[in-house]
Amino acid sequence: MNAKITIAELVNAKSQGRKFTAVSCYDYLTARFAEQAGIDMAIVGDSAAQLVLGFDSTLPATMDYMVVITAAVRRGAPNLCLVADMPFLSYQVGLAEAVKNAGRFAAEAGAQIIKIEVTSTHLNVIKAVSDAGMAVMAHIGLRPQNIGKIGRFKAEGTTAEMASELFELAKQVVDAGAVSLLLEGVATEIAEFITKNIQVPVVGCGSGPGCDGQVLVAPDILGMTDGPKPKFSKSFGRAGQETLEAFKKYASDVTAGKFPDDEHCYHMKQGQLDSLRQILNADFGD
Ligand code: KIV
Repeated sequence: MNAKITIAELVNAKSQGRKFTAVSCYDYLTARFAEQAGIDMAIVGDSAAQLVLGFDSTLPATMDYMVVITAAVRRGAPNLCLVADMPFLSYQVGLAEAVKNAGRFAAEAGAQIIKIEVTSTHLNVIKAVSDAGMAVMAHIGLRPQNIGKIGRFKAEGTTAEMASELFELAKQVVDAGAVSLLLEGVATEIAEFITKNIQVPVVGCGSGPGCDGQVLVAPDILGMTDGPKPKFSKSFGRAGQETLEAFKKYASDVTAGKFPDDEHCYHMKQGQLDSLRQILNADFGD
């Protein structure tokens, strides 16, 4: 039996300079493939609101929904380091509620790390969740839950001032208790500097190659998404095209009467068919 990957392995990876891999995924089947492929970490991101539910932002993801899908990912990937994403309004309203919601991910869904999108105004949230015994990943840089305030996303840490502020924030969140950082949409230079100068493992999402690990959303990796993607994202497969081709072939075989064929049908034994013929006084065509 494989051992579950924990924060300790990620700390080891960082100290040995070994890159680790993460995918943001939302369901049992994809999680199984991720574990089979040797991925280290599954982050159940609130991007599920967009990529599973079809909303135009992450804001509609609810706690109940996130707990259900996090538990599904845990069932599919029992050994991956499992990170659950605190959705919009699950930690902004009060510390007690933040701790309770974070605890649901640990107790009901088997999450090992709780990811929270933070600024310096959320240091007390990190401390409260961490003091309650949970590992916190502080998500800084581009924060999709902030979309209402900024209107559209752009890279973070691109000016000297923004970059040095981001480094200060990175130090603050670690001091508050974060055991890991996620840097999203951050300029490569400052992401690398933060990674080298902060002791905790740093996962980069669109933040260049200098981070300790990388994450992309599974639908992008698999080639399921169409339309414009962020500059940093890349498809490594053609699952979207293959899905389309499979659905078309299925529809064409059904309409042409080729499916289901005999190989995919159940049959009654001859004796049972004879009895049924008598009961119904019907002809079954043989
Ligand atoms: O919601 C999400 O998928 C994320 C990724 C950056 C991990 O936050």
